[in-house]
Amino acid sequence: MHVLGIESSCDETGVALVRGDGEEAVLLAHALHSQVAMHEAYGGVVPELASRDHVRRLVPLVRDVAARAGLGLEAVDVVAYTRGPGLAGALLVGAGLACALGMALGRPVIGVHHLEGHLLSPFLAADPPRFPFVALLVSGGHTQLMAVHGVGRYALLGETIDDAAGEAFDKTAKLLGLGYPGGPALARLAEFGDPAAFDLPRPLLHAANLDFSFAGLKTAVLTRLRTLGADVCEQRRADLAAATQAAIVDVLVAKSLRALRETSMARLVVAGGVGANRELRRRLDAACASRGVRVHYPELDLCTDNGAMIALAAALRIGAGVERPAADYGFDVRPRWPLVEAGAGWGVTTP
Ligand code: KG4
Ligand code: ZN
Repeated sequence: MHVLGIESSCDETGVALVRGDGEEAVLLAHALHSQVAMHEAYGGVVPELASRDHVRRLVPLVRDVAARAGLGLEAVDVVAYTRGPGLAGALLVGAGLACALGMALGRPVIGVHHLEGHLLSPFLAADPPRFPFVALLVSGGHTQLMAVHGVGRYALLGETIDDAAGEAFDKTAKLLGLGYPGGPALARLAEFGDPAAFDLPRPLLHAANLDFSFAGLKTAVLTRLRTLGADVCEQRRADLAAATQAAIVDVLVAKSLRALRETSMARLVVAGGVGANRELRRRLDAACASRGVRVHYPELDLCTDNGAMIALAAALRIGAGVERPAADYGFDVRPRWPLVEAGAGWGVTTP
């Protein structure tokens, strides 16, 4: 079964072809267009520009992916698109194209939850996980810990009560005068800094729950920057970047370990854009190795948004029998769509 995946929830246009066979899935080809350069001048994503760019990019990317896979579009058995969460206009572009393609080809179309894509993306890695596992989902919009018992069987263990981890990276990076998206830029600057040079807050670190709070971090960084004055030297900026990264990573590591303890699970899956952070990987690898816990990550190029994870999630859902594709071309999108509230029809349950 060949699944064409289309991702257009935010500022990346992603298309991919996955061959699914029951519980197995293989990535045949994928292509991505990042809008980062376009949004950079505005310091963040401009939704209207994002939608228009998806319109421009999607069809050429679909052609490109089919050519790279050496397949004609008639070989596509199912078309999958990101139904939500994300920017409404951007989602509609992907949904519209997916349904038009499905109708033209006479193939079923499936709307996929973006976070389910991230969560399952390590199944395309060289060392895929096995169920059950704890998933740490860390993206620009979400920070969640989930207990994952199988495809479509997800229970929310904890989540951020304010900013997401990626948002914390992006907002503090902006304060430090770094570009958009700030996460990778802040991580690069942090390499030259001393994380102990500033004592930044680690909210909810010792709270007896699995929730996160990152909003206070940007205020703390702003306060430190004001104290340092306008002509803050490069070394102090690097120190502040390193201290910020350390504060975020400390909380993510501690809460992941707590989730593993509370669920008695011995596997951790880390997914979403912040999962590309080298310091987070180093710290999680060390902490988990000493506790006999296996950690799985998506391939680095599949950490941030992409079409492969959408095609994969659809293929695995069909393979696991939680989704029965239908030739129904009426679509809607869900800009706000909690994974655990996605409903039984979507196979999302509490354990
Ligand atoms: O999953 P993703 O591509 O998009 C969303 O679904 O939100 O995640 C994007 C987020 C951004 O906040 C970006 O700054 C962050 O992931 N990010 C990183 C790194 N690479 C991407 N944060 C820290 N370190 C990185 N290396
Ligand atoms: Zn994402």
